[in-house]
Amino acid sequence: MGQTLTEKILSDHLVEGELTPGEEIGIEIDQVLMQDTTGTMVWLQFEALDLDEAQTELAAQYCDHQTYQFDFKNTDDHRFLRSAAGTYGAHFSRPGNGICHNVHKENFAAPGKTLLGSDSHTPTPGGLGQLAIGAGGLDIAVAMGGGAYYVEMPEVVNVRLEGELPEWSSAKDVILEMLRRETVKGGVGKVFEYSGPGAESLSVPERTTITNMGTELGATSSIFETDEKTKDYLERQGRGDEYVELTADDDAEYADEIVIDLSDLEPLIACPSMPDKVVPVREVAGKKVEQVLVGSCTNGGYEDILPAAKMFEGREVAKHLEMIVAPGSKQAGEILAREGWTAEMMAAGVNVSEATCGPCIGIGHVPASDSISLRTFNRNFEGRSGIEDDNVYLCSPQVAAAAALEGEIIDPRDLADELDDLEAPGVELPDEYDGSKTDLIYAEDAIDDDLIKGPNIGEVPLQDPLGADISGEALLKMEDNITTDHIIPATSDILKFRSNIERLSDFTLSRVDETFAQRAKEAGSGVLVAGENYGQGSSREHAAMCPMYLGIETVLAQSFARIHKANLFNFGIVPLAIDEETYEKLEQGDDIEIVDDVAEGVKSGQEEFTIRVNGDWEATADLHASERERRILTAGGKLPLTKQQAEGG
Ligand code: F3S
Repeated sequence: MGQTLTEKILSDHLVEGELTPGEEIGIEIDQVLMQDTTGTMVWLQFEALDLDEAQTELAAQYCDHQTYQFDFKNTDDHRFLRSAAGTYGAHFSRPGNGICHNVHKENFAAPGKTLLGSDSHTPTPGGLGQLAIGAGGLDIAVAMGGGAYYVEMPEVVNVRLEGELPEWSSAKDVILEMLRRETVKGGVGKVFEYSGPGAESLSVPERTTITNMGTELGATSSIFETDEKTKDYLERQGRGDEYVELTADDDAEYADEIVIDLSDLEPLIACPSMPDKVVPVREVAGKKVEQVLVGSCTNGGYEDILPAAKMFEGREVAKHLEMIVAPGSKQAGEILAREGWTAEMMAAGVNVSEATCGPCIGIGHVPASDSISLRTFNRNFEGRSGIEDDNVYLCSPQVAAAAALEGEIIDPRDLADELDDLEAPGVELPDEYDGSKTDLIYAEDAIDDDLIKGPNIGEVPLQDPLGADISGEALLKMEDNITTDHIIPATSDILKFRSNIERLSDFTLSRVDETFAQRAKEAGSGVLVAGENYGQGSSREHAAMCPMYLGIETVLAQSFARIHKANLFNFGIVPLAIDEETYEKLEQGDDIEIVDDVAEGVKSGQEEFTIRVNGDWEATADLHASERERRILTAGGKLPLTKQQAEGG
């Protein structure tokens, strides 16, 4: 039987297990990437593991999420990251050089290689045939030390794209259509492999918009076959020699097939506050808009900003709104500036920002209260923009620019009817991506050979080995789809403590219950209760590390998001699955006792544990864990386990 493209790349990198969906496999990692908010912990953990040098073919550290250096903490963090990259042999991308996924795509992403990144949108370079997966920081540290990365073998689903995109529709509409059909849970345990004539018609930047937002489907990764378009893109980036032809076998068997006819797609928009609340733009047309942003790792490329810039040329954005363009990389910004588009946009009333994630996580350009913000980003979780009751819509650059010109949400086709001279903007790739490399400090040119730690760089917290009794009070009961943004918000006032767990943990779950951290500290231990898809969103391991620091030993949830579940194991928190009836019955404040000897049960492969609530009623909670994950839990987390193994324990 033939293989899918995903299976081919995994076979080439397999070090443990078999490619049977649902089974755990260990794979060798060729490249790792880190961003600034997760990177400090990766390097502190790398240091704690007593490792000398990055063992992967390539390691790259980016400074992108928090580039506005409000006070010394962010600047100290960036200096620490530069020193760590230099000390351990990684490339370093300075603040302002761009978002990790964009800069990695431009400079390092390579077809057929595996990439592990401490950011959930790491799958972005799947658009040029790289198998890229997001993971927690500790997994990155271990992979960078030469260890395998373990993941459940995903099901591979073929997404067959037919036809060609009509005018005014874009790659963003392809992935919004996927979200409309499959929802934010539809990709869990899956890799989406795109193929067909429609896929061939898309450029690499269009493909990476789709693979980037596969994360919002909950997918392990998304990938396109490589072809002339991939080769052409790499050549324009000056890396044509890295091209490899990669296709699935003709007789490859997929777990499922989804067919999308691109010619049927109309401009779509995701309504507040979930990326899968997708409707045609015309259904929400007429709503007044007060802020529009074009940028992010999804639509911050030269090819994304160019259509908007063309629409702005010789026109003005509506006076009552703020229109911001934040290029995803300095390369994109430089080319737009050289070609004169930056001046055109500025003349039209656009505020051109530095290349940063910033507003995507509420750092800068926070919307006004009770207003609508249209963004070309990938997430619109409530509060992520920096204000609790936000109204963030997600759309393509074309739809965003149309709204900025009209002052309200409008289908760009209707705007084109209104304005005689507005034509659908074509998207051409530049002959050569000739942005400078000034802000990349290659490993071989490192300027530091020792770690520089400022006062805000803390210690890596360690957990004791798992005990027999992990009973405690249900300190918090939460609903479905709790995101890592709920657990540890990524806003600037909080994120600046990312390297200081003692201080950061004070904000744990503060967006759900402000008293939580204090109550957890007083209790000294406790249990969290949640509904479906607990921990969806980012790869932020702080969302497991901080609860661990506060003494949380188990989470009872109906289901867990993939990366977060791995992070819970990594930090010694037992993730137990409960059914809906148990969830409904449980109440905050309940006294939860796990009747079994937990340490013994975890070690011996026990799957069902009995919980007794208030000494009154009992239910079953399931532990779905591989042998390796059980060893991690038993040791109190992956860091203590890896240290034990290194010491021969
Ligand atoms: Fe940055 Fe937002 Fe992407 S935080 S990495 S632009 S999802």
